[in-house]
Amino acid sequence: MGAEVELLYDVPRLEEKFIIRALKNFGIELKLTNVKYSPLSWSDHAAPVALVRPISMIRAIYSASLREAVGAKTINSSISIMFAGDKVLTLSRFRQAKIPFPKSIIAFGSEAAEKAGKIIGYPAIDKPPIGSWGRLVTLVKDHQTLQSIVEHRELLLSQSVKTHIIQRYINGGDRDYRVLVLGGEPLGAIMRSAVKGDWRSNVARGGKAKAVKLDEELSELAVKAAEVIGGEFMAIDLFHDGEKYLVNEVNGVPEFKGFMEATKIDVAEKLAKYIKLVLRR
Ligand SMILES: Nc1ncnc2c1ncn2[C@@H]1O[C@H](COP(=O)(O)OP(=O)(O)O)[C@@H](O)[C@H]1O
Ligand SMILES: [Mg+2]
Repeated sequence: MGAEVELLYDVPRLEEKFIIRALKNFGIELKLTNVKYSPLSWSDHAAPVALVRPISMIRAIYSASLREAVGAKTINSSISIMFAGDKVLTLSRFRQAKIPFPKSIIAFGSEAAEKAGKIIGYPAIDKPPIGSWGRLVTLVKDHQTLQSIVEHRELLLSQSVKTHIIQRYINGGDRDYRVLVLGGEPLGAIMRSAVKGDWRSNVARGGKAKAVKLDEELSELAVKAAEVIGGEFMAIDLFHDGEKYLVNEVNGVPEFKGFMEATKIDVAEKLAKYIKLVLRR
């Protein structure tokens, strides 16, 4: 029998190891494809389900699109990984769906950034559309600093980093909430707090995670955000500004090690179970 699920990855993280173990426990025939070593083509025979896990956003989108082309069901789809991976595209979808997010302005150069900074006011946050683990996300205290950031980014090659998302600084942004959504259902929630000396809560920067109650507002917003981005297995990150939740970003290839540790929810097992159901359809 051919493989039922193909796991596409580039760097095997703990998450991938958990997923492999869980799929095997469910008796699912698995094919592992390291996309850095195996070429992909439009003549490949795809497994019915392709689980798309490359860390690199572009590799994830491309791997998904190649497998979709030959009939695989991808988790997540190429289009959802693309929309989740780019914060400008994400926020546009949020606006369409009336999902609240921190007030943000997009600036493509120094003049636009100057105007955007005035409108948002300082301190502000400046971040590029594509990125993760808090890289290049900057707390901007004044206008001069913003101008320096724009100048530095102009020297970088990628067009994406020359685009600035200038955003209202959320008091309490040093802690954020993460909800995992699988097949339209929220699995649970954690809160992450930045370590002393950083104001970014990313677990990759040492942020500490703890389980929190999944209240109704949190659930509803997370499920809606996953739905408008279109992914089946998504992590939704939110802030609380003292009054209400604001959705910050969506992750289309979610890391969930910290979530599993904090909540004791076996995310990999839930994912494998979900895939088993998908295979039976
Ligand atoms: N508008 C904001 N106000 C306050 N803190 C923010 C804001 N945006 C981001 N941060 C902080 O920076 C961290 C990284 O920013 P984020 O937008 O999540 O980018 P990344 O994709 O790199 O994780 C967030 O987890 C949060 O702690
Ligand atoms: Mg983040």
